[in-house]
Amino acid sequence: MKIVNRIDELRTMLTEEKANGKTIGFVPTMGYLHEGHLSLIHEARKENGIVVISIFVNPLQFGPDEDFDQYPRNIERDEALAREAGADYLFYPTVAEMYGERPTVTVKVHERTDCLCGKSRPGHFDGVATVLTKLFNIIGPARAYFGLKDAQQVAIVEGLIHDFNFPIELVGVEIKREEDGLALSSRNVNLTSDERAEAVHISRCLFKIKEAIDSGMTPEAAIAEGRGYLHSHTAGTIDYLEALSYPELKPITDVREAIIVAAAVQYSKVRLIDNVIIKTEQPRG
Ligand code: PAJ
Repeated sequence: MKIVNRIDELRTMLTEEKANGKTIGFVPTMGYLHEGHLSLIHEARKENGIVVISIFVNPLQFGPDEDFDQYPRNIERDEALAREAGADYLFYPTVAEMYGERPTVTVKVHERTDCLCGKSRPGHFDGVATVLTKLFNIIGPARAYFGLKDAQQVAIVEGLIHDFNFPIELVGVEIKREEDGLALSSRNVNLTSDERAEAVHISRCLFKIKEAIDSGMTPEAAIAEGRGYLHSHTAGTIDYLEALSYPELKPITDVREAIIVAAAVQYSKVRLIDNVIIKTEQPRG
């Protein structure tokens, strides 16, 4: 696995790979890799000649009071994990390499941002869209791999790829969980042990809501019950617990459309997110 810090160097190397007929699968990350990230590399490995992973903690997608400084980092460990998972290139640029002194042009997302994380993290998805536009242009992948753990991000990237005409296939990959159901996240290391014990109830709550909706309860009623459950099982602050259509992220109007049930809970140092997507051809209720 080649480790590259410079944009021009990576471009030259990947241009040559493409000239040799290799297709590129791209896995963007912010590092501190876990099985969720590695599952994206494994998927990319199956479908592409070359796999590129980027590790870049993108300052543009963090708000002023968010955890940019506390975001966990360990590049040596990440290098070993990415290599073992089968990546061919690890792109690890500095902030100065990506943005110079400051960006002069940024991307603004207009749809699918007025809810869930977009509502509580103003500007977050603009930062995500800006860095991904740059990374897509630098790397030129045939396919890009994203985890459904960040389902709103997947919905927004779908819009970015469509609107900016990137010739990229978006591949969404299932959520990887701990044995007790907690969604894997780089941020989990910043939970206290009490918070870690309570955090299991986020996924339990989502699974209960899914079960209730699957057996005919209305999403509103199921969410209300779920909110009661989550309130009584965790001291974390519920930022949101919502059911919306997916991937449009609009209020649910048609009982046949796919639904996302998503939650965000704020703990002392970390905000955790999780979701379940309910797809059904059958009318519910
Ligand atoms: P990061 O949080 O590092 O996540 C990188 C990718 O791993 C994302 O596509 C995310 O959805 C996926 N992922 C995280 N946890 C997962 C899990 N438990 N199961 C499956 N996939 C999981 O998302 C970002 O970074 C950034 O916003 C980025 C896209 C890199 C732009 O800066």
